[in-house]
Amino acid sequence: IRVAVVHGVNLDQLGRRNPDHYGAGSLRDLERQVEEWGTELGCAVRFFQTNHEGAFVEYLHRAEGLVDALILNPGAWTHYSWAIHDALELASLPAVEVHLSDVGAREEWRRRSVISELCLATVSGQGIAGYRTALEALSGHLLPNEP
Ligand code: DQA
Repeated sequence: IRVAVVHGVNLDQLGRRNPDHYGAGSLRDLERQVEEWGTELGCAVRFFQTNHEGAFVEYLHRAEGLVDALILNPGAWTHYSWAIHDALELASLPAVEVHLSDVGAREEWRRRSVISELCLATVSGQGIAGYRTALEALSGHLLPNEP
């Protein structure tokens, strides 16, 4: 299955952000690891990151023709972007939401996600391993008969 891993605002700065929440690795490191897990799990993974909400929305507009499933970490947009909610609804693809940090255990405003209701699952607080959990959830959903 073809999976797009889509990162939003400030996630290009991984490695410079608070390592207690986000780990010490860069986005490239993360992408390399997730690609490796994808290969193991039979997923062809592609990556996209932007700091521009409109570009994120337009990527979701194109996604249906590009991939079978989505892994989304929209960063702070998660908590308030109804535009991303609506674009994800339009994409009508199975999606899993991932957050590196435990968004339920931080500031109050991080507890709300406007996209969770459109996602199969939300993975939070597992660090980079959360992306592996997401890949497993998507392949389990799309290929339920595989081991
Ligand atoms: C994040 C959590 C968000 O609250 C934050 O704004 C981010 C990253 C995470 O991966 O833990 O930028 O999505």
